[in-house]
Amino acid sequence: MGLGECLIGAAEARNLSRVVQHGALFRYYGPGAAPSLGYVSRLERAVAAFHRQKYAVAVSSGTAALEVALGALGVGPGDEVILPVWSWVSCFTAIVRLGARPVLAEIDDSLSLDPAEIDRLVTPATRGVLVVHYQGVAADLDALLARTRRHGLWLLEDCAESLGATYHGRPVGSFGRIATYSFQQRKVVTTGEGGMVVTADPRLYERAVRMADVGLYRDEHRAVKTPTEVSFSGSNYRMNEMAGAVGCAQFARLRPMIRHLRRLRAAMQREVGSLAGLTWRRIPDARGDLGFDSYCFLPTHAQALELKRRALARGVSLAPHTGTYCQYAREYCQSGATASAGFSPFAGLQPWPAPGYREQDFPQTNALVGRMVSVPLGAKFSLADATHVGRVIREELLSLL
Ligand SMILES: Cc1ncc(COP(=O)(O)O)c(C=O)c1O
Repeated sequence: MGLGECLIGAAEARNLSRVVQHGALFRYYGPGAAPSLGYVSRLERAVAAFHRQKYAVAVSSGTAALEVALGALGVGPGDEVILPVWSWVSCFTAIVRLGARPVLAEIDDSLSLDPAEIDRLVTPATRGVLVVHYQGVAADLDALLARTRRHGLWLLEDCAESLGATYHGRPVGSFGRIATYSFQQRKVVTTGEGGMVVTADPRLYERAVRMADVGLYRDEHRAVKTPTEVSFSGSNYRMNEMAGAVGCAQFARLRPMIRHLRRLRAAMQREVGSLAGLTWRRIPDARGDLGFDSYCFLPTHAQALELKRRALARGVSLAPHTGTYCQYAREYCQSGATASAGFSPFAGLQPWPAPGYREQDFPQTNALVGRMVSVPLGAKFSLADATHVGRVIREELLSLL
């Protein structure tokens, strides 16, 4: 189960029922043009304040958030964006939908983009880097920012899986030019479907609002920032009040949930202890991770599979909280097709799949993900549950390694 999902309760129901009784399901107005209760705006303010950033724009999904952020940055045909090959569907597809070319990079033992890849992959067409803070852990931001600055690129932080994780004491999403979040059912905080774009840049904020709201810039946004940008052809990625109402209740649960998850992770890892042949995922800032999906590496793929099989036979699932796998293995990447046959960022890269989009181009990533095992912990787990998971893993590893 997702983290926020299993905490849905009375507060979410209360907020939702207020919205329904009031009748304004749309963010901006309801019956007779009466104003809504303003839950979406409250959620924006709460998320911005949490990140100590000035601006947040609520949207309809994490995928929408990526398209809005890329649109705000002005990404388009002829541009290249570097992203990790080990990442969610929309990290790739959002770039393609804006007309730009996704350039796939290896991950390292932190399971996020290997910063050295930026030096290898940068070209005159590169505009920026999309980093994914994978499963509750901040990527190696010092190393990434050093390289993006050196090459004059922006950094877009995809925090869909890591709301609340910190790096050097600051929340992820407050380091790059712009950041995105998802509130999909399985995320840390959920509204069923939903997302957020966060930035400190007033121009990007205005462009993100216009991108998400059919080019409009309403009074509510004028009160936040005086408009200076021209309207352009945006889309409708707005969040509705029902999602906002649930989001406000969920967001209030975030800090206690993180404290609990970290206690669980510590109990589980204490129980597993250290064993020759067992390596944990590298955490660039060990004080900042969320702890809900701890990853370890075993010496071989066969041993990783066997550990999962044995743990499952004892009632412990080691299936991760995410459906992430390598982009080159996805159908849209294998076809290289775009919605419009008339335009493709992959035109000129024939025959397809071209180098950079094939399994054999990612030996470092393949060597890591083939040997890895996830240890997922739930927001409703007790310390005894976490200890039990750790004990099962240790016992099985003692006979396996
Ligand atoms: C890293 C990452 N980016 C983007 C998304 C897309 O979010 P959504 O499902 O809300 O569109 C996800 C969702 O799984 C994700 O994990």
